Amino acid sequence: MEVVICKTYDEISKRSAAEVAEVVYNKPDAVIGLATGSSPVGLYKELIRLHKEEGLDFSHVTTFNLDEYVGLTPDHPQSYRRFMQENLFDGINVEPENIHVPSGTAKNFQAFCEWYEDRIEQAGGIDVQVLGIGSDGHIGFNEPGSSLGSRTRMKTLNAMTIDDNARFFEKKQDVPIYSITMGVGTVLDAGKLVLVANGKNKAKAIADAIEGPVSCMCTASAVQLHPDVSMFIDGDAAGQLKMRDYYEWIQSKKPAAPTGM
Ligand code: GLP
Repeated sequence: MEVVICKTYDEISKRSAAEVAEVVYNKPDAVIGLATGSSPVGLYKELIRLHKEEGLDFSHVTTFNLDEYVGLTPDHPQSYRRFMQENLFDGINVEPENIHVPSGTAKNFQAFCEWYEDRIEQAGGIDVQVLGIGSDGHIGFNEPGSSLGSRTRMKTLNAMTIDDNARFFEKKQDVPIYSITMGVGTVLDAGKLVLVANGKNKAKAIADAIEGPVSCMCTASAVQLHPDVSMFIDGDAAGQLKMRDYYEWIQSKKPAAPTGM
């Protein structure tokens, strides 16, 4: 696990976008897993810049989003489908038929979730998965208590997540209670994980994810089981890490490390 403590949000965004871009440069038909929330907005801005100014080509890329609110149509102002359109898809040349966001309005949610898992498999699996982290340590909408082997399914949001996400809605009562989310097991199947987090309100979740026991009480801690994880966080989000000095030491020594390390 690589923990990169960045000085600014801009640095988080540029360095995490570079990881995603590298996957696409190396594999033009890459499959990218995407996340919503405020944390990856800068990462998406940088991918748009790389597309517009440096020719990063998404025309053969396929995307799968982590989650969606149940009950919101794709054009609802707070739907994750719309968030992705406004924050990334409108700025790059991904083909609409290659975009996948879980449906919040499926007729049969269980059948939809099975289809979503099958689609990921048919696409060849996710090469790189972008992740944010909830203040309760969730990835996607895998709330505390979620099975670490879980697959795409419906999850009931907890009070903390409803409170956190209320800022995007007119009133708290408007926040949907249910979601469709890739499971922790789905996320762990991706070839590479890139997690971004900033701000003091993420400090406990980040410490639990990186240094806590692997536990369903912080589903982000499951990334400890993954062999290729990069975490780009700021000093505030790193505030409760016990080994912060060591992570900074590793990064400072990286340029001089023998090749192949
Ligand atoms: C939501 C999303 C998560 C996201 C989290 C954090 O709950 N389902 O995927 O990581 O919010 O959001 P933010 O980055 O706005 O703090």
